[in-house]
Amino acid sequence: MKLKDLNYTAEEIKGFAKHYMIETYERFDFIAETAEGMYLYDENGRGYLDFYGGVAVNNVGNRNPKVVQAIKEQADAILHTFNYPYTIPQAVLAKLICETLGMDKIFFQNSGTEANEAMIKLARKYGVENFNANKYHIISAKKGFHGRTFGSLSATGQPNTKNHLGYLPGVPGFDYVPFNNLEAIKNAYTADTIAIMLEPVQGEGGVNVADKSYLQGVRQFCDEKNILLLLDEVQTGWGRTGENMAFQYYDIQPDIVSMAKGMGGGVPIGAICASEKVAKAFNSGSHGSTYGGSPLCCAASFAAISEIIDLKLAENANKIGQYLQEQLKVLPNIKEVRGLGLLIAVEFNQPIAHDIKIKLFKNQMLVTMLDESTVRLTPPLIATEKDCDLAIAILKKTINSLP
Ligand SMILES: Cc1ncc(COP(=O)(O)O)c(C=O)c1O
Repeated sequence: MKLKDLNYTAEEIKGFAKHYMIETYERFDFIAETAEGMYLYDENGRGYLDFYGGVAVNNVGNRNPKVVQAIKEQADAILHTFNYPYTIPQAVLAKLICETLGMDKIFFQNSGTEANEAMIKLARKYGVENFNANKYHIISAKKGFHGRTFGSLSATGQPNTKNHLGYLPGVPGFDYVPFNNLEAIKNAYTADTIAIMLEPVQGEGGVNVADKSYLQGVRQFCDEKNILLLLDEVQTGWGRTGENMAFQYYDIQPDIVSMAKGMGGGVPIGAICASEKVAKAFNSGSHGSTYGGSPLCCAASFAAISEIIDLKLAENANKIGQYLQEQLKVLPNIKEVRGLGLLIAVEFNQPIAHDIKIKLFKNQMLVTMLDESTVRLTPPLIATEKDCDLAIAILKKTINSLP
């Protein structure tokens, strides 16, 4: 049986999904059948301008040709083998990432939440082995988002939200403090604290950009107390905020950084990078992953990261992000536009974000919604001024059409 021979109608396909799947997503009512560059296409070839980029994943564009080619070539060589032998894509990707980011060591995972689990585990093990059995507490930020598995959901500083309700008790040892407030971190610190865990720009929590002085102050505080700075760059990483990693914009180096989303060019991969000193806490058999570092995903990731570097997509995100923000600010009904690079929130002065999202879809443009008044734009980093002009025209028409 071949998928492409099945010939189900679009209505049948949507029907199967509704009938058989546990549905936690509000779907756009179309079938994304093909994709290229800045567009998704439905079964009739109707194109949708992609301003959510698979939620900050398709940094190198949908179905980037170099990524597709790398996947095809790797599929012809080896798909999976677990981590007992060495593989070329894994070793070469490790070298590329560590050297590009000035980090010593990498561990591969499959997703953002898994990368954060690894980051939390490594920090804890480093703490309890190098200090004492109580030195495992981590301070994270309110409105942060770190993922949906137990460690990362426990690090997520969003009590009483859908991310927590029904799942507690979580993992102990997390303290939440207000974001962008160094004093709050200093006040929450105790002798049992091993790390501060933050997103440089809170993505899911509203696109809240950390002040430079804040993150630099946190780095300094971690050094003073001999504790670790953990940065979650799952959403901000790989060009999105105008640098390969947002920590470069802040001119700091984390002890551990997690990444996923944009590093894969559309395949599921995540990783943590750590300093040599901290990485040593993971030793033989103490952590692992069946698929983490799969040759297929590493080959795709190598192609995606090479594209980000070769095409200077971080620079483009910075330039186009500023251009887009300027145009967005003068649209009607805007309360605030904020962001860094091509991670941008558009907050309206009324709770119209859902209507906007649905009407934009009808006008063939895709965005995500953050809260009742806010939509988020995370287009591929290959976006041009022309793409932004079109997006602005569609947004304007959509806002003006609301009652
Ligand atoms: C900052 C951040 N961390 C972690 C995650 C979780 O990543 P994943 O969905 O790949 O598990 C996300 C996802 O949106 C994220 O934005």
